[in-house]
Amino acid sequence: MERTLVFIKPDGVHRRAVGKILQRFEDKGLKLIGLKLAQLSNELVNRHYAEHTGKPFFESLVQFVLAGPVVLIALEGPEAIAVVRKLVGATSGLEAAPGTIRGDFSVSKSFNLIHASDGPESAAAELSRFFTDEELVDWTPTDWGWLGVGAK
Ligand code: CMP
Repeated sequence: MERTLVFIKPDGVHRRAVGKILQRFEDKGLKLIGLKLAQLSNELVNRHYAEHTGKPFFESLVQFVLAGPVVLIALEGPEAIAVVRKLVGATSGLEAAPGTIRGDFSVSKSFNLIHASDGPESAAAELSRFFTDEELVDWTPTDWGWLGVGAK
């Protein structure tokens, strides 16, 4: 079982696509363990995107993510990190496959609606960056036993 961090960027919130995007994760069978709307601080966004510092798109990326509230989502499920990345699609909405979130909602490299952790280390770091331990709720969906979720 893995946990991963996703956030819907301000373009998704402004376009009132939050419900549709959350639906994709619920439909897939992932478990919601954390959820909140937040206006991120400049310091937090700079820390989150530190690896992109100095790239040509860095300043506009930071301004974009600060342009309105984001929806922070923590998810759990079997191989959740890779499963979520597949649902989200390629970084650029121009290249993302139809059926993925970015493929269905974006025609831009920058305004791509959603961020998702790209591996176990970033998932752990990003979950603790955006959620306290108390905000992450441990629970067991009733259908997981029936569906053999987590079974090999
Ligand atoms: P995200 O998954 O949040 O991780 C880094 C973000 O930088 C990415 O989504 C895009 O929003 C943005 N990004 C990555 N590459 C480019 C690019 N070439 N031009 C503009 N924005 C980019």
